[in-house]
Amino acid sequence: MFAFLYCDDMKKKGLFITFEGIDGSGKTTQWKLTGRYLRRLGYPVLMLREPGSTPLSERIRRILLDKRLSVNATSELNLYLAARAELVGEVIVPALRRGEIVVCDRFHDSTMAYQGYGRGIDINLINKLNDLATGAVRPDLTFLVDIDYRTSLSRRKKSSDRLELESRAFFNRVRSGFLALARKEKGRFRVLDGREAIDTVFDEVIACLNRKLNR
Ligand code: TMP
Repeated sequence: MFAFLYCDDMKKKGLFITFEGIDGSGKTTQWKLTGRYLRRLGYPVLMLREPGSTPLSERIRRILLDKRLSVNATSELNLYLAARAELVGEVIVPALRRGEIVVCDRFHDSTMAYQGYGRGIDINLINKLNDLATGAVRPDLTFLVDIDYRTSLSRRKKSSDRLELESRAFFNRVRSGFLALARKEKGRFRVLDGREAIDTVFDEVIACLNRKLNR
């Protein structure tokens, strides 16, 4: 049905790792530590975030997170997908073809969890639209840093962005969504307990990375 522009996996030499979780889970800290760890081991590493990491996608990010704007659920979905299509086509696929390790803070699972489970847009439809935006490029390994809403709230900065202003019920749906996705794709996901100390969580990340890299 869709043109899988980048689906020629034969040409893909790199490794694609993503970090997911609700706001305040600590995933960005784990993402940074992972980049530093892999670089120290000598791997070529590309650190990216979603939405963002290209000039166009960073502009879309600003719109998406602006709490002065009201954005309807369909426009929101399409903006996340537009930011992703740009990033995948211009940056991720070329990097994977060069054999780099791409480490991305959020990717398509966030759309499934936030716009699907959170906003209530059909999951199967989002899945297809994600394929259209990414050419079906999917992560090889996804760390889900799981925390409950109360912990997430206690960790957030005061200046909340548009998404962070959502209700407890919304975040509970998003969290359950992430966990449901992880159950569906056990081979790709590694679920981490985000209430643990940063180092404890990172020890698990390292163990998993080392296995993936056959170290
Ligand atoms: P960040 O603050 O973790 O960088 O993420 C930006 C916000 O955007 C966060 O609240 C989650 C949200 N988001 C979605 O709702 N859908 C998506 O597809 C992505 C990538 C992020």
